[in-house]
Amino acid sequence: MLVLLLFMHFCTSRKSPARYFYNGNRPLVIAHRGACGYIPEHTLQAYETAAYMGADFIEPDLVPTKDFKLVVNHESLLDQTTNVNEMPQFSYLQTTKSIPTYEGILTQTGWFSEDFSLDQIKQLKAKQRIRTRPQGMNLYFGKLTIEEVLDWVIGVNKIRLIEGTPLLGVYIELKDSAYFNSLGFNVEDMLLDVLKDRKIDSIEGASMICPIILQSFELQSLITLGNKTDLPLVYLLEEGYILHNISYYANFVDGVGPGFNLIFDEKCSLTDFVDIAHENNLAVHMWVVKKDKPFCGFEQEETYKKILDSHVDGVFDEFPDLSIYYFTHII
Ligand code: G3P
Ligand code: CA
Repeated sequence: MLVLLLFMHFCTSRKSPARYFYNGNRPLVIAHRGACGYIPEHTLQAYETAAYMGADFIEPDLVPTKDFKLVVNHESLLDQTTNVNEMPQFSYLQTTKSIPTYEGILTQTGWFSEDFSLDQIKQLKAKQRIRTRPQGMNLYFGKLTIEEVLDWVIGVNKIRLIEGTPLLGVYIELKDSAYFNSLGFNVEDMLLDVLKDRKIDSIEGASMICPIILQSFELQSLITLGNKTDLPLVYLLEEGYILHNISYYANFVDGVGPGFNLIFDEKCSLTDFVDIAHENNLAVHMWVVKKDKPFCGFEQEETYKKILDSHVDGVFDEFPDLSIYYFTHII
């Protein structure tokens, strides 16, 4: 008991000193997988569109290749967002895997990034995941490494520094870290090495040229990162997480990223999630706003009013122009 009391005494909640982690006037707008409501997700063109629309951050999800490069894809399965199943030269790499994810064990048959070299991934073309979204840009754009994303953002920000406009940030998610570590991919160190090479592995460096936030559904991955960098950390939460654990998370991370169903209850009324998080010095970044799949069935303007009423500090939006428009016009 004494040990527990001492532990609780020495664990104090964090509050990131990164100024870019907060926007005092409106929620941060995080372009989820780029502006993926319009352009195939996680392509340079989806990120460019998001930047043009005024998003504060773009949001790459990362998975490894077999030659230890981090590429941008929502999951290591490549089938949903590329033309891999149309490329006979890769048919021998099709396999079945059971991958433990935050949603449970997923058994899938297909092609997986960790079985491909970067050269092979670069032969793939991106396609739109959702059939009801525009398909006209399928198979035009290639797959990206995290290095390519960061170098593009740094280039954008060199111009923004001259213009005096706010810097574009990168809000990076490591996918299925425990699983990839079990396969020999130290994805946390792989990412930190890439950031370090660009001198953006700390708040000080990132604030100058490329604001970085790190996110994960796996607390252990964030703890590992937090032992090596002071960059802001956000713990992603799904429905079913226990609210009173929030004070525990606050020892390790600067924010939480709840699904909207933790912010709004089954009657679509606001829960006390945001208040509890704020009492623990945690920023709240809610996912995911989608024009073509509105949560609670809210009308478009109502959606953004409800988001503002909730006092969340950021939103992941797949149509980031709408967040920017409504947050600018409703306030
Ligand atoms: O990272 C926030 C949100 O993107 C989590 O969901 O599955 O789209 O990465 P997912
Ligand atoms: Ca994500």
